[in-house]
Amino acid sequence: MRLTEKLQGVVPGECLGRLSDRFHVIGNIAILSLAPELASYKKVIAGAVLSSGKSIHTVLNKTTKLQGERRVAGFELLAGSSNTDTVHREFGFLYRLDVTRVFFNSHLAHERMRVSAQVMEGEDVLVPFSGVGPFAIPLAARGAHVVALEKNREACLYLAENARLNRVDKMVAIINADAFQMAKLLRKDFHRAVIPAPYGEDGILETVLTLVKSGGRLHFYTFKKLHQIEPLKKSYEDMGLEVMQARRCGNVAPAVSRWVFDLAKY
Ligand SMILES: C[S@@+](CC[C@H](N)C(=O)[O-])C[C@H]1O[C@@H](n2cnc3c(N)ncnc32)[C@H](O)[C@@H]1O
Repeated sequence: MRLTEKLQGVVPGECLGRLSDRFHVIGNIAILSLAPELASYKKVIAGAVLSSGKSIHTVLNKTTKLQGERRVAGFELLAGSSNTDTVHREFGFLYRLDVTRVFFNSHLAHERMRVSAQVMEGEDVLVPFSGVGPFAIPLAARGAHVVALEKNREACLYLAENARLNRVDKMVAIINADAFQMAKLLRKDFHRAVIPAPYGEDGILETVLTLVKSGGRLHFYTFKKLHQIEPLKKSYEDMGLEVMQARRCGNVAPAVSRWVFDLAKY
């Protein structure tokens, strides 16, 4: 039964219209983003989510947008266990994480598989902004030698555990550092780079470019409005890149989407 159906007669109709049946689930944690009008019904809504039979143990309400360098939102506990450490399963891979301490977005699952499907065994692949590993680990499972770089120390600890959990720890080298210092830390011959850059950090592309071989591939994630895409393609071509594909992969704000550019370095 849909959430709003379950709450018919419990939450007044005009408020119920502000509630979505869809909510983000990471591992056994449900994450709601309740409209202010629903504040007095938070507990009853959370109770309905907890009993939705989706093996949910904890219901959180997002109280802020993603913030800070770690890209983590603020949360309030509405129902269930206060333990926010969980294991998320995605296409057979396991990711342990604490949703209140590290970034994770389960909506990019198909996109992550799309990219890892392009990787050949033996490739050297660079993943800056690697988080707890949802790009790095499928790439390593395809036989790539992955260098994963992440500034959030807790995310690196989870990444190390997740590499072991998924039996790819021998294929993933983890560097706890600032991606903008990469050129000083790394050798310059990666076959591929996968760059899930945080909002507004597009400047990283120039740094990554110096680390990728000629003929190499880049998958660059950025946040843009539709009218910015054609000029951006032109600027990448001016940087000596071929734009193989530009795809939208999720909306993040009104008129602003996450885009991925598959690029080839001449
Ligand atoms: C948008 S998240 C992507 C995480 C991961 N790739 C994923 O898809 O779940 C960006 C990540 O970059 C990290 N980060 C932010 N600024 C950084 C920097 N200057 N150097 C390295 N990592 C950084 C954050 O801690 C966060 O884990």
